Amino acid sequence: MNSLSNAPVVSNSQAHAGAPAHGSAPRQARRPLGPTAFLAASGIMAPIFAIGAWMMADSHAAAEAVRRGVAEALSAHANLVAAAPLPTLAVSEAARGRDVFLNACASCHGPQGTGVKGLGKDLTTSNFVARLTDTEFRQFIIAGRPDAKPMPMPPRAGREDLSDDDLARVVMFVRGLQDPRRMPELPAPAPVAVAGTPNEAQKAAALAAAGGDVELAKYIASGDRLFHSACNACHGKAGVGIAGNGKALANNAFIGSLSDDDLLEFLKKGRAPSDPKNTTGIQMPPKGGNPALSEDDLLDIIAYLRTLQGPANKAAASK
Ligand code: HEC
Ligand code: HEC
Repeated sequence: MNSLSNAPVVSNSQAHAGAPAHGSAPRQARRPLGPTAFLAASGIMAPIFAIGAWMMADSHAAAEAVRRGVAEALSAHANLVAAAPLPTLAVSEAARGRDVFLNACASCHGPQGTGVKGLGKDLTTSNFVARLTDTEFRQFIIAGRPDAKPMPMPPRAGREDLSDDDLARVVMFVRGLQDPRRMPELPAPAPVAVAGTPNEAQKAAALAAAGGDVELAKYIASGDRLFHSACNACHGKAGVGIAGNGKALANNAFIGSLSDDDLLEFLKKGRAPSDPKNTTGIQMPPKGGNPALSEDDLLDIIAYLRTLQGPANKAAASK
């Protein structure tokens, strides 16, 4: 809101700045011109005045367009809910969208989409959202705002496992959050399984990290895949951390200090901003905000996290 209201609404005086200054006329009048000079001067000036008048009209129109654009941007959501409602959403689409939203967006934007302090913005009244077409909205989620400060909106919400179809359903669900008149009665939420099927590269990396131990490699590869769905958004690819959000988990002394059991307990509980151990003021949500993750899933993630630790922090893994 603030940045928009500070947008350069071109004032009338600025709009006219390019036009000939009225103040210069009296000064010329004080220097009487000879008839030839006067004719020459008015001959030269006439087109300039004409252009000036045209520019004045043109920049006035531009200013008016900017003013209207800003006003429209500031009231896009208000206009949406003031207008006749668009058609009610299809139950199956909105329900799947809600389930994916709870799974992929709620940790930062809240379960109702009203935002989480210090994390994602309120989407329910977002003018930015109200102005996007469905296609643009989905493309926005795919691109994210990776450079936003203080915290980025991760591309694809940091979820490598979500399909474009799933994102299209999230778009429909958010339409319903923006205009509840369009939201149909939805069935109870169904947990969205986080896809744990690793790709070939993840399998190969896991086998190398496990020193050829096929059984262990299976857990690590699954953990790699799960991590890049459930934790990536806040902790970054391969746990490098994201400025303004989740800490780096590679070469991490806290992980190194805990046994697998203790780490499992930590992941189930998370760390609230009120916890004295919290240093960022941002929540580490229980299970990373993914209630659908089972204990086995979390243990796979732990096996993967162990492979990201240097020798000093590996010790606890063998406890
Ligand atoms: C890891 C946290 C995180 C996750 C997960 C996340 N977002 Fe965001 N999102 C953000 C942040 C932070 C911003 C604000 C970025 C900025 O300052 O411009 C944002 C901004 C947005 C905006 C722009 C809102 C506006 O008014 O400018 C939309 C739309 C959005 N997110 C939708 C989604 C959807 C849909 C999902 C789930 C598919 C999602 N986000 C998942 C953190 C997240
Ligand atoms: C919505 C963002 C978010 C998600 C998703 C998330 N985390 Fe976190 N995590 C955080 C934040 C923020 C912290 C730092 C909290 C603090 O200040 O102590 C953190 C801290 C941690 C820590 C403690 C690190 C330390 O040095 O104290 C571990 C371990 C961790 N997360 C693991 C995970 C795992 C594993 C997942 C996926 C299952 C996950 N996180 C998902 C935000 C997130």
